[in-house]
Amino acid sequence: MPSDVLLRPWRDDDLPALIDAVRSSADLPRQLDLPADPRDEEVASRLHDHLTRWGPAAYVLAVTVADRAVGTVALTHVERTHDTAWVSYWTATAGRRRGLTTAAVATVAAWTFGTLGLHRLELAHRVNNPASCRVATGAGFVAEGLERAKLRYDGVRYDVETHARLVTDAPPATTVLPMRAP
Ligand SMILES: CC(C)(COP(=O)(O)OP(=O)(O)OC[C@H]1O[C@@H](n2cnc3c(N)ncnc32)[C@H](O)[C@@H]1OP(=O)(O)O)[C@@H](O)C(=O)NCCC(=O)NCCS
Repeated sequence: MPSDVLLRPWRDDDLPALIDAVRSSADLPRQLDLPADPRDEEVASRLHDHLTRWGPAAYVLAVTVADRAVGTVALTHVERTHDTAWVSYWTATAGRRRGLTTAAVATVAAWTFGTLGLHRLELAHRVNNPASCRVATGAGFVAEGLERAKLRYDGVRYDVETHARLVTDAPPATTVLPMRAP
């Protein structure tokens, strides 16, 4: 785990790092709904439309190392009738397999329960994405079930496993990362 990690909202000057992340990570263009070699304007538009959201329905954090954005953890679909929300995440290839995403998701979940007062956080991953399943489990999200053939990519349908973490669940034994909210 790098020592100079900080979770903070995305900023306009994160654009070059976001472009690098998309271009250097083969699976991210699809994750972010971008072409494999996006133009700066496409990435800038994505940054503004989706990544720079900060309440009340979505809170999106950049995961930074030495103040360079290498990934994101997003809390979306914040729903106040039932105090639930949806969690998603990605990390650029160069930042992976260091426990960063697991710690970032666990940190955001703890902030969500403590600061926003939510009760239940949900996420899901394709069954052929074991890394995402490990992140979910490591961040304290219990597997709840399988949604059959839920997603279709390039003509192939995929089963999806759902996970959730409740405020009442025991917190995972992960590093709590520094986080700066506005
Ligand atoms: C999924 C993803 C976020 C994992 O990020 P990461 O920073 O490598 O995750 P971590 O370092 O916290 O690793 C978590 C666990 O996953 C395991 N893992 C990481 N990459 C793996 C891989 N390719 N295959 C199998 N396991 C993997 C790690 O070994 C670790 O296991 P452990 O908990 O048993 O020690 C990253 O691969 C990614 O951004 N993928 C593309 C986007 C995506 O799939 N997002 C999730 C959509 S549901």
